[in-house]
Amino acid sequence: MKQSEFKKRRKQLMQSVGKGNIALIGSASMHTRNRDVDFPFRQDSDFYYLTGFNEPDALAVFIPGREKGEYILFCREFDEKKALWEGAHSGLEGATAHYEADDSFPIDDLDDILPGLLENKTKVFYPMGHDLELDNSLLEWINHIRSQSRSGVVAPAELVCLDVILHEMRLFKSAAELKLMRRAAEVSANAHVKAMQVCKAGMYEYQIEAEMIYHFIQNGLRAVAYPSIVAGGKNACTLHYTENASKLKSGDLLLIDAGAECDHYAADITRTFPISGRFSEPQKQLYQLVLDAQAAALEQIKPGVPWNMAHEASVETITKGLVSLGLLKGKLKKLIKDEKYKLFYMHRIGHWLGMDVHDVGNYKIDQEWRLLEAGMVLTVEPGLYIPADCKSVDEKWRGIGIRIEDDILVTAQGYEVLTSSVPKEIAEIEALMQAI
Ligand code: GLY
Ligand code: MN
Ligand code: MN
Repeated sequence: MKQSEFKKRRKQLMQSVGKGNIALIGSASMHTRNRDVDFPFRQDSDFYYLTGFNEPDALAVFIPGREKGEYILFCREFDEKKALWEGAHSGLEGATAHYEADDSFPIDDLDDILPGLLENKTKVFYPMGHDLELDNSLLEWINHIRSQSRSGVVAPAELVCLDVILHEMRLFKSAAELKLMRRAAEVSANAHVKAMQVCKAGMYEYQIEAEMIYHFIQNGLRAVAYPSIVAGGKNACTLHYTENASKLKSGDLLLIDAGAECDHYAADITRTFPISGRFSEPQKQLYQLVLDAQAAALEQIKPGVPWNMAHEASVETITKGLVSLGLLKGKLKKLIKDEKYKLFYMHRIGHWLGMDVHDVGNYKIDQEWRLLEAGMVLTVEPGLYIPADCKSVDEKWRGIGIRIEDDILVTAQGYEVLTSSVPKEIAEIEALMQAI
């Protein structure tokens, strides 16, 4: 992503923060995996969104109207030994030269410099409660300024949660963001197609997972957006199953929920298909119902429609279908009111998607479901999960878990499916799987 994109975001943030105020945001930290080994570093999404700076031990400060520069980056100083062992890091000069900070200081000098920057500011915007160390440091810096009030300096009087303005910005995707999301979607979609092509009874779930990750990395996307779910048979009824260790059985379905990340932007796709390449009759009936529920939900995706409508449409289709297949008994209205469908469809229709797989942004405004607007990206992912021990339904349905999930961009006219290249119609899936 170009620096100009980050600059545009900082400008927008500065306008919301306003003159006389200050905003702070810290980077993610390294975390130990075991002894001398760290987990792979993943930058904090909010921090990256504003800076494009991909190192730990950094703090960005935004001071609208500051004459000596509005954007200050605290980071690690360049260290030759560190560069030799761990590779490039930008240092103070890189922070200004490559990342366009107006000023940069060593992160080790934070306690000396930050109180001076906070002096005489009215409000401090920061990600409240997100990083205990920053929370505590901020209170210490403010107390330090207070202790000097006799010299005339004034400590900030208001702490404001930065999330409110920042997450509203992140909810609307720019052209540059959509380019990365399309790439994440395309590579992830192709990996799902590959999984359908290689899947055979007798393989292990982790072998299918390996196939997908191989495809992600071959295409330059080295991180998964979330742990992949590869769930054969009744494992699919565990919503966040990630053991991926069972042997695939002919006659079962395989549910795969997997997506790659492209330069910090996620894809989130689920497909469910028969391990043998052919759906059984009961599998077909439940699968078609989930597909119909997704179509009903998608019909509600356009600007001006409340977010909740897609969920309600999926609930109605699923409840109706469960009655006609005999899994639920009773009157449609009452079953919906009593939420009887939740025995088999216990999650909501989807979530915002962006830098985080469950992305930021409010779902309600003033306690009302917010209206969809062009530029928002969300998932639409109805599912049906019939517990293996569910005595209230015929045996033929038990242990079947199905979810179909696509990534959807709200457009001025309606919507665009970013992940449409993975088949999901029954005939399409069977044809693809027979073709090998
Ligand atoms: N992959 C997590 C989800 O679908 O929400
Ligand atoms: Mn999802
Ligand atoms: Mn998913």
